[in-house]
Amino acid sequence: MAGRFEKQPILISGAGRGLGEGIAKHLASEGAIIGIVDIKGQSAMEVAEAINDAGGCAYSYGADCGSRAAFMEAAQDFASDAGPLRAVINNASVLVYEPIEAVTEETLDTMLSAGLKSVFWGVQAFLASRDEDAPGNILNYSSPVAYRGRPNTGAYTTIKAGIAGLTKVLAGELGPRGIRVNAIAPGSVPTPATEGFVTPEQYEQRAKNIPLRRNGTVEDVAQAAAFLLSDEASFINGAMLAVDGGIIAAG
Ligand SMILES: NC(=O)c1ccc[n+]([C@@H]2O[C@H](COP(=O)([O-])OP(=O)(O)OC[C@H]3O[C@@H](n4cnc5c(N)ncnc54)[C@H](O)[C@@H]3O)[C@@H](O)[C@H]2O)c1
Repeated sequence: MAGRFEKQPILISGAGRGLGEGIAKHLASEGAIIGIVDIKGQSAMEVAEAINDAGGCAYSYGADCGSRAAFMEAAQDFASDAGPLRAVINNASVLVYEPIEAVTEETLDTMLSAGLKSVFWGVQAFLASRDEDAPGNILNYSSPVAYRGRPNTGAYTTIKAGIAGLTKVLAGELGPRGIRVNAIAPGSVPTPATEGFVTPEQYEQRAKNIPLRRNGTVEDVAQAAAFLLSDEASFINGAMLAVDGGIIAAG
C-alpha cells in the first residue's frame, strides 16, 4: 500500500476500536506502519491483524496509556519493531456522562488517567522514541465540548478542554524542534463509546440540528486526522480542527 505516510511509524493510543481503529486503518492504507496501543490488548491485536491481513503493516501492544512507564515501554517496543516514530496520536479515552454529584473518585481517576494523563505520557513517549532527523507530529483528540458547557459532562469536558489547552502550549514549546502539535474536535460520531449514552433516536435528533444534517462517520474523522498529519498541513501548528458538520460554528 503506497501513500503519503509510506513506512512512517505512527503510534496510536486507544486504537482497539472506534475512531482510533478508523485512523489506524486509514493511515495503514496510506503506507504508514501502525502501532496500536490499547488497554484491551486483545482488541489491539485484532485491529493489527485486520490491517496486516489487508496488506498493511501494524503491531499491537496491550498497555494502560495512563501509566507513564507502560506507555513509554510500548513506544520503545514499537520503535524497535518499526523504527523511530514519526507521529503519535493521543486518542485513548473513557467516556462517562453523569451529573456532578454522581462523579466518584474512581470514575474521575479512571477518566483523567485514560484521557488526560495519557496525553502527557504519549508526548513524552514520542519525544523519547522519535526520529530526530524528520519532522514530527503529535495529534490530540479533543471534542466540541471543549468550547461549551453541556450539563452532565463535567469530567469529560474538563479533559477535552485540558487537551485543547495543552495542544496550544505544546505547539509553542515543540514547534522550534520541528514538531507540529494539533488537535481534532470530532462531533457526533456513533462509536462503541457513545452506545449507552446516546440512543439512535437522539442521534436522529442531533442530525436535524447539525448544519450538514447528518452525524459524522469514522472515515470523516480519519480523513481529517490524516490531513493534519500529512505534509499538506506542514504550516499548521496549534490548530483545533472541527470535524463536526458545523456544530461548533453554528452553536
Ligand atoms: N465518538 C465521538 O463522537 C467523539 C466525539 C468527540 C471526541 N471523541 C474523541 O475521540 C477519541 C476516540 O473516541 P471513540 O468514540 O472512538 O472512543 P472508544 O471508547 O470507542 O475508544 C476508546 C479506546 O480507548 C481505549 N482505552 C481506554 N482507556 C485506555 C487506557 N487507559 N489506555 C489505553 N487505551 C485505553 C479503549 O479500550 C478503546 O479501545 C476519544 O478521545 C474521544 O474523546 C469522540
